[in-house]
This record gives sequence, structure tokens and C-alpha cells, in this order.
Amino acid sequence: MHLAVATLASALVCTLALDNGLMRTPPMGWLAWERYRCDIDCERDPKNCISENLFKDMADRLSEDGWRELGYVYVNVDDCWSSMERDEQGRLQADPKRFPGGIASLARYMHDRGLKLGIYGDMGTHTCGGYPGTNLDQIETDAQTFADWGVDMLKLDGCYSNESVQAEGYPRMSKALNATGRPIAYSCSWPAYRGGLPPKVNYTQLGEICNLWRNYGDIQDSWDSVLSISDWFFKNQDIVGPVAGPGKWNDPDMLVIGDFGLSTDQSRSQMALWAIMAAPLFMSNDLRTISSGARAILQNKALISISQDPMGVQGKRLLQEKSGIDVYWRPLSDNGSALVFFSRRHDMPYRHQTSLSKLNYTTGIYKMYEVFTGKVGTVEDTSEFTVSVNPSGVVMLYVFPPVKRRRLHANAKLHANAKLHGPAHFHHHDLDDAVPPGFL
Ligand code: GLA
Repeated sequence: MHLAVATLASALVCTLALDNGLMRTPPMGWLAWERYRCDIDCERDPKNCISENLFKDMADRLSEDGWRELGYVYVNVDDCWSSMERDEQGRLQADPKRFPGGIASLARYMHDRGLKLGIYGDMGTHTCGGYPGTNLDQIETDAQTFADWGVDMLKLDGCYSNESVQAEGYPRMSKALNATGRPIAYSCSWPAYRGGLPPKVNYTQLGEICNLWRNYGDIQDSWDSVLSISDWFFKNQDIVGPVAGPGKWNDPDMLVIGDFGLSTDQSRSQMALWAIMAAPLFMSNDLRTISSGARAILQNKALISISQDPMGVQGKRLLQEKSGIDVYWRPLSDNGSALVFFSRRHDMPYRHQTSLSKLNYTTGIYKMYEVFTGKVGTVEDTSEFTVSVNPSGVVMLYVFPPVKRRRLHANAKLHANAKLHGPAHFHHHDLDDAVPPGFL
């Protein structure tokens, strides 16, 4: 009976989601905007200007430095790529100086390396940077142009338009992309231009027409920006959370890890909170010069496996303690879950004591894996344990499904571990076969 209900529910979800089969887990890749903006001065800044070379450089890094294998496959162009004029047939065209090979050849470059190319447009008269937009009568032309070029994703911004143009244009572009027959993932900035909340935003509809959508303002390279965005999403989690799922994601905007504004702890916090949110993971950084510390955070396998959990449920904030510790939780497939303890404090590492039963976990013995240190521990639901959380930092636990107490007699090793009371010590020797193989 349960199974039947679950199957029916997932069948319904499937038919309601945008029907292009794409992005069953949150998309991962690289996006130019936050770090490179509208730098078009290729004479004086050839390494960083918006040009085909920048995207090829990033593609080389993604394919040669271990990113692609982890899932970072999208290389996404943002604003300022196009010529100021459409061509004689009314089609968008790339700036001929900065993209001499054109977008089709850039797409081939990506495909040859097992990567995908994303492009940027705007449902309005102009893009936010003042380049040609897509007017209502140009939707089908532009969708076809992108498909002809072999583009894999479109981010459709919403500058220089209004409520009614957006209400007509965003759904029509979804249809037009599907009609090309090429699978093109569709990122809609629409809700961000309508305040991000119902009744102005219809999340059910967004889930039917877009693979992801920007709900809120642009991220900047600062901790203030990361925190305010994260706080908006968790404050509104009961509104935006339930609509997310395979093929349809809330997008709190790019990862700024590897740039200039975040400390190591803050970088870990952005990664952890974005994974809890089931957010798209688009880095906007310089992969040619990224530090090994930032790379380790972005390439953390346990964290990525949480982000990419196939169930695709967006997590939530469970608690905000008076101490300044927040607790976040995301349910994962196979009865696993992720917990994040995040500190808003400004003084010193805070020793936060809790237990799984206090966090509504059911009875049993749990294995836990701390994703940044690799430490492992075993706790009973009622055992108190302590996590030490740095200022603006996180402790993130992958929690494995409980082993029922009555099975303990059959498992001497676990029985021994079960004696572990008081503060949990995450020791490597506690790891045993209760951890699903293939996880690490
Ligand atoms: C808007 C978007 C950004 C970026 C810029 C480009 O501000 O929200 O993500 O695409 O436009 O001009």
C-alpha cells in the first residue's frame, strides 16, 4: 500500500516536472558571471575578459583537474557574450572579436571533452548588461538558434521587461526549447524579478516549465551576501522547499568559493548549506589559479554525494539555538540524512551538545561521518554528543540509517560501539561495514 502510494506520487511528480528528462540531480558546473562580470576588455585583460578563450580555459581545467568526474560538467556563458546587433536573419550572434569561432564551435569544444555549454539570454528588450534581449516575437527564433548551435542550457534573465511579458514569455520559451527536439536545460530568473514569493510567484508552474529558477538577488563575493541569501531561502523554506525535486530546483545563485570574500570556514559553510538546499552548484571562480584549500572543499566527495542525492529532497533548517548555532537537515535516500551545525557566533569555536533524538531521529544506533574531517562515530539516538563549530563555520554530518537495537546481539562489533556514550568521538576505527559500500 505504502509502495503503491509512493509510486503514484512519484509518477505524478514526473509528469508535472518539465518534461525534458534533464537535471534529475542539482546541476553542477561553472558560470562566468560573479567572477568575470561584463569584462569585455580583451586587449588589456585578455585572460579574464568574456571571450571564447575564457570558457575554453575553464573547460580544460574542468576536464583535466578532476572536476568533470565529480559532476561539474556545465560551462556556462553569462551576459555580454553577444554582438550588439542581431544578424540579417534576426538571429542573435556572438561578438565576432571575442568569440571568433562562434558559439557552435565552443559547444563542440565542450562536447569533445564530455562537458556541456550553457548560454544566457533575457526575456525582455535588453539583457541586464544592455545587450540584445529576446522579445516575445523572437522566442522561437532564439530557441532554435541555441539548439542549432548545440547549446545544452539556457539561463533566461528578466531585465527590461514587465510582469505580463514575463508571464507570457517564460512558459513560451519552455515550449520553444522543447519543440527544438534538443534537450536544453532551462534556468528561469522569472521569480527573482517578481519578489520570489506567492502570490506573485507560482512555484507549481515553475516546476512544470523550468529545470531551475533564481528566486532571489545576485550573489556577491562576500560572506554578508552568502549569509543573507541562505537566510532568505531557509526563512521561506516551507514555501520554496516542497516544489524542488528531480528536474526542478531552487537556485540560490553561484558558489563564490575560491574567490576573495570567504574564509575557509565560510567556504565550507556555503558548500554545506548549498548541499542541504539541494541547490545547483555552479562555481564562479578562476579554476586556473584556485587554491588547493578551496579546491578540496569544492571537490569533497561526501558533500557532493549529499548534494547529488537521487531522492532530490530540499533540506531545511530545524532549529536556531539561542547560542547562535543553527541546525539544518536534509533527508537522503536509503534512510540516510545530512546534518549541518552552523555557527553565527563571532568569538571562538562553540561546543554544541545535542543528541539525535533531540533532532527527531528514531530509536537506533547511527553511524556518522563528518564530511570535512573524515572522522567517524557511532551514537545511539539518545547519546549526547558534542560538535565544535567555528565562527561562521559548520560541522556537517552524513548520518547513516539506524541499526535497530534488537539486532545488536547478532553484531558484536556494533554492540561494542554502542557503549559509546557521552560526547561522540569521531574515530576512524569506529567505521565498520554499517557504512554503505561505495560511499567513500
Ligand atoms: C542579472 C542576473 C545575474 C547576471 C546579470 C548579468 O543581474 O541576476 O545573475 O546574469 O544579470 O547582467
